[in-house]
Amino acid sequence: MNAQTAIFAPFARCHRHLEYRVTGNVSAETLRPAIKAAEEADNVVIGFGHELWQKLGQSAPPELKPFSDIGPAHSTQADLWLWIAADDHSAVLDTSMTLHTLLSPIATLEREIDGVEYHQSRDRIGFEDGSANPKTEEAQHQAACIPEGVTGTGGSYVLTQQWQHNLPAFNAVPIKEQEGIIGRTKADSIELEGDAMPATSHVSRTDVKVDGVAQKIWRRSVPWGGVEANGLYFVAFACELSRIEIQLQRMYGLSEDGIKDRLTEFSAPTSNSWWFTPSQEQLRAL
Ligand code: HEM
Repeated sequence: MNAQTAIFAPFARCHRHLEYRVTGNVSAETLRPAIKAAEEADNVVIGFGHELWQKLGQSAPPELKPFSDIGPAHSTQADLWLWIAADDHSAVLDTSMTLHTLLSPIATLEREIDGVEYHQSRDRIGFEDGSANPKTEEAQHQAACIPEGVTGTGGSYVLTQQWQHNLPAFNAVPIKEQEGIIGRTKADSIELEGDAMPATSHVSRTDVKVDGVAQKIWRRSVPWGGVEANGLYFVAFACELSRIEIQLQRMYGLSEDGIKDRLTEFSAPTSNSWWFTPSQEQLRAL
């Protein structure tokens, strides 16, 4: 089983994320033209919410569920998620329009994010994002894809969240302290070591092992917004939903140690959804 190809494609410069809620009696039949167009475009990733996946008569991978609140992260769970990416903004818009035209008779657009790469893979807070992502193709697939023998093989669990930053507040913090908030240096993204790494840093909260297994995930987030409203559209793929869930709980001080991620003082998620991105073979079978 092969993952949707765009999940592991080199990170493009322009991105559009569309979240839809389906209306009425949707079926695989009515969705087929949009799914086919998404597949043929090869720069599109398509994800399904738990409810829609079940409505389509498909068996869900074991951990798939609708998002339920985690601390101040409130559910905005929708049914269908499309991620369209390319280096050329026009290509992103053209593909998005084609898909939207096919979907609009059967679904309502709930969220549209226009994301653009900022400097070289930096978030709007100025730190490089993605440095600790798995490097080899094998490690990326291992982190992101549901293994053989489990329902949904080759697919992924995905979390998307639209984070809105308080950039003036973050930028008012001295750089040394910003580095302690993230857990890496700002200029060259070198991980802080030993006593220099605060327990409240973002890296300390998200670099986690369970029973000795590093909870690696594959992050493909993109900055959004302009001079006032801005932030990060967080996108993470995982072979187990619990990997991402544990990290989010640790960020909000909801794990045993009760420690909070200082990054959450400067940014808050305004959308939160779990998705399942089926393998190419499963998509075709629809
Ligand atoms: C405002 C939202 C967020 C921002 C600006 C942000 C930014 C960053 C930055 C700058 C790094 C360090 C460089 C890197 O390794 O990529 C990082 C690491 C990381 N982040 Fe986030 N992040 C955000 C939300 C999240 C969320 C919601 C999760 C998971 C639920 C998460 C999971 C991770 C992980 C797993 C790492 C790598 C830790 C390691 O192994 O070193 N991040 N993030």
